[in-house]
Order: sequence, then C-alpha cells, then structure tokens
Amino acid sequence: MLIAGNWKMHTDLTAARTLARNIAAAIAEREGRKLAGVDLAVCPPFVSLDAVADVLEDAPVAVGAQNMHFADEGAYTGEVSAPMLHSVGCRYVILGHSERRQYFGEDDALVNKKMQQALDHNLIPILCVGETKPQRDAGEAEEVVREQVRRALQGVEVEDAAQIVIAYEPVWAIGTGDSATPEQAQAMHALIEDVLADRYDAEIGAGVQILYGGSMKPHNALELLSQPRIDGGLVGGASLRAADFIAIAEAGAQIETAA
Ligand code: PGA
Repeated sequence: MLIAGNWKMHTDLTAARTLARNIAAAIAEREGRKLAGVDLAVCPPFVSLDAVADVLEDAPVAVGAQNMHFADEGAYTGEVSAPMLHSVGCRYVILGHSERRQYFGEDDALVNKKMQQALDHNLIPILCVGETKPQRDAGEAEEVVREQVRRALQGVEVEDAAQIVIAYEPVWAIGTGDSATPEQAQAMHALIEDVLADRYDAEIGAGVQILYGGSMKPHNALELLSQPRIDGGLVGGASLRAADFIAIAEAGAQIETAA
C-alpha cells in the first residue's frame, strides 16, 4: 500500500516545511498504532524538494517530484532533470499527470520518454492515466486508459516494469470532490492489470502497484482502498492537511492489518 501526496502548485518554502513537519509529527504521535504496511510519499513543488527531504530525513516518508524532463541536462530553460531530482533525495516522480497533459500539452510519446529516463536514473515513476468525462460518457474510458498505459510503457523492459507505480486518475474526479465509485475504480484497476499481464506477464500484472487518485479523502479512503486491486492513493487536495493525509494512511493501514 502506497499513499502519495501530490501538493501540486501549493505551498511556498515556509508552508512546505511546516506541512512536512506536521506530517512527521502526526506519524511520530502514532508510535503505538503504527501505519503498518503503508509506504508514504509526498511530492512538493521543485523549489521545496530539498527542504522537505531534509525535514523528513528521519521520518518514514519518501519524497517525490511532480514532473521531470527526459534529458540528463542541456539547454532546456525552466526544466528539471532526473539527476537533479536524484541529487535532492527524490525516490519517486509523478509522470503524465492529467494537468500536465491538459495544460502543458504532454502526450503519450513524451510521457514514454520520461518513463525511460526516470527508470534509467532509479527514480520510481508514478505514471498517471485516466479518461475525461466526455470520454467516459462516450464509453471510451477503457480504451483511453488501455492506450495510455501501452504507449507509456513502449520500450520499457520487464525488469523495469516491475518497479513502476501506476495511478488511475479519472480526470472528472480530480479536484471535484466527486471521486470514482469503488466499483468504477476497481474495474479500471483490473483492466490495467490485464494490460500489464498482456504486455509482460501475469506476475508483473499482479505485482505493479496501482493507485487510485481523484478526490480521495478521509471519508471515502477506506471504501476505495478496500477494493482488491486498489493498492494505494495519489492524493491531491487532502494531502495539504497533515491530519487528512495521515487519516487516509490510517485507512490503508487498517486494510493492510486486516489482510
Ligand atoms: P485530488 O487530486 O485528490 O485533489 O482530486 C489528485 C491528483 O490530481 O493527483
């Protein structure tokens, strides 16, 4: 079970440090009731990565970035590379988030290049896929997600595929307060597992962590996370409050403990 917070373009340096400290404190308070079986990660804005990694050095929380360029270095004004992320202690990098696709023109080919680059630099990509509302209404959701997964993984070898994390994030559920139902999410996660099994083998299909994202909150986390193939959450809005983020992690721990 992985619960990852996507802070998006929120928190300046001071606020990022405070949020990281509050998360670390909330975890420390739970010493008796450990967040068993749950891996935690936070993805702050680039400028706060180093500071947040520093604050969380002794806490069981990994740090990730929200995006990355596909080259090691070069004349790419405004971009950030995998080696740079590595140098500030990142373990994860979110790739292909729908906001990158929607507002910054990222397509599957670009996401694919970034996937290869992340894996080459020992960063764990959290590959985001998901359909829009019109696509769902038109009955195209499965095909859209299937193609996004297939194209993102072109050329990715089986050994690397075992490392990746996929986040199913229906675009219509992101930031709307209107999450997918557990059944909708479970169905799409099962489909992603099939795509992976087809592309690689059953072991990879069953082994790759598939997170759900899109208005995951403390009140719906338990129901979503208890679905057999929902292996965690990519949490936006609710990750900006330490108490809510940890409440979601506790829901995950409850399921892990019961398993
Ligand atoms: P949300 O965002 O939880 O605010 O819906 C999730 C995401 O975009 O990763």
